[in-house]
Amino acid sequence: MKTLPFDSANIPAPALLEHLSVAVLWLDEHLQVTYLNPAAEALLGTSQRQAYGEPVCNLLAGETMLPEQMQHSLDIGHPCTLREILLHVAGSDVVIDCAMSPLHDPELGAGLLVEMMDIDRHLHIAREEHLLAQQQATRSLLRGLAHEIKNPLGGLRGAAQLLDSELNNPEQREYTEVILREADRLRSLVDRMIGSPVRPKMGMVNIHESLEHVRRLVMLDTQGRALRLLTNYDPSIPELYAAPDLLIQAVLNIVRNAAQVMDEQDDAQIILRTRVMRQFTIGTSRHRLVARIDIEDNGPGIPPALQDTLFLPMVSGRKGGIGLGLSISQSLIAQHHGLIEFVSQPGKTVFTVLLPMGTAHGDST
Ligand SMILES: Nc1ncnc2c1ncn2[C@@H]1O[C@H](COP(=O)(O)OP(=O)(O)OP(=O)(O)O)[C@@H](O)[C@H]1O
Ligand SMILES: [Mg+2]
Repeated sequence: MKTLPFDSANIPAPALLEHLSVAVLWLDEHLQVTYLNPAAEALLGTSQRQAYGEPVCNLLAGETMLPEQMQHSLDIGHPCTLREILLHVAGSDVVIDCAMSPLHDPELGAGLLVEMMDIDRHLHIAREEHLLAQQQATRSLLRGLAHEIKNPLGGLRGAAQLLDSELNNPEQREYTEVILREADRLRSLVDRMIGSPVRPKMGMVNIHESLEHVRRLVMLDTQGRALRLLTNYDPSIPELYAAPDLLIQAVLNIVRNAAQVMDEQDDAQIILRTRVMRQFTIGTSRHRLVARIDIEDNGPGIPPALQDTLFLPMVSGRKGGIGLGLSISQSLIAQHHGLIEFVSQPGKTVFTVLLPMGTAHGDST
């Protein structure tokens, strides 16, 4: 059985380190693990007993940059910090900041003190805040723009109608018809961008009924195709106060995108999954209960060039797409104090709709 370092060296266990949420490792001059605290055990999916004496590269299997940098830091005797490193450990990906300091401990000798901070949650919150800010900025920009477009458009349309009634020559009336048609098209585009001015009907909604509605609509859309639409519902989700029509529209836009992007794919599959999250933070607001709807597809993934601006209007990667679907969905979910986010790679894209479950007054914290 392996002897544990701090016992064998007769050094009291570093009690404070044991309680830190930062992962701490002490490596000897050969970069072999001498000590790791519980946070490091959890992060790296190992235990002090297993890891003791192991070269650190064994713990970071597949990672080359970090061990190389550790060796470098030890060689030159200088501390060094690496930011936003993607680690693949214990079967999952985690993003960390890593600080390493070469030290000479009187008891342990020369070695390297390594601190690893899991910044996944931090990045996630920053990303959510960015999405919320983007959504608010887009909304106020669109409102202003819509106002500026709709006013003169009304005058333009009225004048074209008057002109139309004055004209007797059918050839000339073709021109006024073009003006009227284009004015209507522009008006309906602007209406789609800013959403309906009519107050939506709110009520207690069974989320699964809404999702089944979406499923039926998409199945009708994709009749004759090999697309599989699967469900994985959490039946314990309580009803939530929402506008069912808006929820259906928001999810429908997302599911339609997935179906469209997998148009030619034989094994196309979309999964609608629901879960309930407790004490969950959206942006900076913490909610007691949040309903989570995942829409997962096995399509080609979202082109990286689109990912940062995906929820902005007019961003589209589809031939013939206007690029409004996702911005409308985001805005509809924002009206419910929720958020849509996504992760995407070729073969797996997941859009997640987060909906706080509030009371009739929208108080959900
Ligand atoms: N599941 C997905 N997989 C891959 N790409 C996607 C997926 N969902 C959306 N996209 C990409 O995001 C773009 C924006 O989608 P969005 O719904 O906002 O606009 P659109 O579908 O192009 O047009 P519209 O919905 O207004 O008709 C799409 O054109 C597509 O390139
Ligand atoms: Mg779309």
